[in-house]
Amino acid sequence: MTTPDAFESLFQPVLVGRVWLKNRLVVPPMGTQFADPSGAVTDRLIAYLVERARGGFGLVIPGYAFIEESMRRGMANQIGAHNDHMIPGLNRLAEALQAGGAKTFLQLCHTGRQADPAMVEGGQPVAPSPVPMGKDGVVPRELTLAEIEDIIEAFGQAARRARDAGFDGVELHGAHGYLLCQFMSEYTNRRADKYGGSFHERMTLPLVLHPLLRHEEHLLLLRRSGSPLVSSAGHWRGRAFPGGRKEELHHRYRGCR
Ligand SMILES: Cc1cc2nc3c(=O)[nH]c(=O)nc-3n(C[C@H](O)[C@H](O)[C@H](O)COP(=O)(O)O)c2cc1C
Repeated sequence: MTTPDAFESLFQPVLVGRVWLKNRLVVPPMGTQFADPSGAVTDRLIAYLVERARGGFGLVIPGYAFIEESMRRGMANQIGAHNDHMIPGLNRLAEALQAGGAKTFLQLCHTGRQADPAMVEGGQPVAPSPVPMGKDGVVPRELTLAEIEDIIEAFGQAARRARDAGFDGVELHGAHGYLLCQFMSEYTNRRADKYGGSFHERMTLPLVLHPLLRHEEHLLLLRRSGSPLVSSAGHWRGRAFPGGRKEELHHRYRGCR
């Protein structure tokens, strides 16, 4: 098959950290709801993703996995990386993707204020600060320092499970308005402790996670939104949508990019 010169490099191998990808074609993480209700990998999930690996993608990242039981999900039938019972299923998935010719990273996510309240213990999601989800929306509960320590531990354990299961790396979901994005954003992070303040202070949580999660042969990626778009006052591109639906929707789906 001939490819136009402009696309030639897409098909060249690339070294990412210490992991060689056979080409630069990536299936990005997309939640399929094909896990079972406990979070365990199913045959259906494996079959769906392996088809992409066999199709020739160099890297396949399954949809986001939750890291702890109590504040877990953005959606039902999400992949779980929250306890060791998940490891055998994750291992079957990783090995099937690798046998299909792809490398694979497990994306780890805490949804924070974007958790579905119906799926959260007590019905109130947690967040860096109690910034409501839009006009008349759910007000999340501010995380205590002890709870942030627990979340750091949960990310560390989930990354260890990904390694034990044979994934080539881990991707932290720091985009799309989820918890790590909420810490990085001046709109959703109003904390006065070490996790809030200037840009560098708002980066504290991802930076604390970095050495904890990074291991020699195991790659760590941070998926990050490109631009916050929403200012600390809730302005979007200079226009005010104070507490309004448009501003919130934008923040939720695009605002942290
Ligand atoms: C159904 C669906 C589920 C998604 N789930 C995730 C996810 O779990 N993690 C993530 O980082 N992005 C997720 N995304 C975003 C995609 O990875 C991707 O960034 C988005 O579809 C834009 O792709 P494009 O840049 O090719 O248009 C999802 C997108 C869709 C459509």
